[in-house]
Amino acid sequence: MARPKVFVSRIIPDDGLRMVTEATDATVWQDELPPPRDELLRAVEGCDGILTLLTDKVDAQLLDRAGPQLKVVSNYAVGFDNVDIPECTRRGIPVGNTPGVLTETTADLAFALLMAAARRIAEGDRYVRAGKWKTWGPMLLMGPDVHGATIGIVGFGRIGQAMARRASGFGMTVLYHDVNELPGDVTEPLGAQFVPLPELLTRADFVSLHVNLTEETRHLIDARALRAMKPTAVLVNTSRGPVVDGAALHDALKSGEIAAAALDVTDPEPLPADDALLSLDNCLVVPHIASASPATRGRMAEMAAANLLAGLRGERLPTPVNPEVYEGRKTT
Ligand code: GLV
Ligand code: GLV
Repeated sequence: MARPKVFVSRIIPDDGLRMVTEATDATVWQDELPPPRDELLRAVEGCDGILTLLTDKVDAQLLDRAGPQLKVVSNYAVGFDNVDIPECTRRGIPVGNTPGVLTETTADLAFALLMAAARRIAEGDRYVRAGKWKTWGPMLLMGPDVHGATIGIVGFGRIGQAMARRASGFGMTVLYHDVNELPGDVTEPLGAQFVPLPELLTRADFVSLHVNLTEETRHLIDARALRAMKPTAVLVNTSRGPVVDGAALHDALKSGEIAAAALDVTDPEPLPADDALLSLDNCLVVPHIASASPATRGRMAEMAAANLLAGLRGERLPTPVNPEVYEGRKTT
């Protein structure tokens, strides 16, 4: 039997890539940059499965180009806002993501950003390199304490909860908001208190975002939300760029409505080097690297490969985003 035809849209760690290339007739995009749209559309034609990254838009047009034999979309990410899930579900195509394995690594980076923004690490490094360090300064580069402060965690899924564990280690008061209040057996060990979003924004010294990007969370942090925050507050975003209104954030940072921001995700991505946010010393930006440890990226690759191969075999994906595709359908 012919091996299934597969497109992999970037070189991913060997842990997963080998599983795919050994079992399928795989074309792997070799460039460091994502395939341009027209090349992506051409590459998926006739594929039985595709392994995509968050930089690839999977929509009706792409699914049409792939063709009716397409059995699975495996996204190498926990987030899946790049994939039109309802459209995949309508066509009976399961979509996989990589939840769980990147939780702790992502929370590590979110906490690193929180601390770096508070204690002005990047600014301090720039200061030293610019030859400005002349003496020990009684008031030099002061920033708020992290220990004992109040953190407001928006989105209390796996990563939000992992952030809460780190925060409680620093003696922080932990507030969270989510669409639903979580059960006490989840929140009590973390000492986390559910509050409405407006209350979280007014009380938190640090606001950290851990929601999926959806129509409901797009610009969740807008000019009004930023105005509600303390002038000493620090905003941390490791979720998706469009959860924050970037222009409003720029204005809030510039006018001192909030003290600082630390972003792993931006809108757009990549953020152009001449973006107004990057003219601000109180805005720290890193290039979407929250899950970037070799161990975690390797596990994500294995998981993405496992989803892809299961989908090709007609088996239930280990971690489907749209398990509703299996409703009323017999799978092995
Ligand atoms: C990265 O942002 C991911 O969703 O895995
Ligand atoms: C992601 O893994 C989340 O649920 O926060």
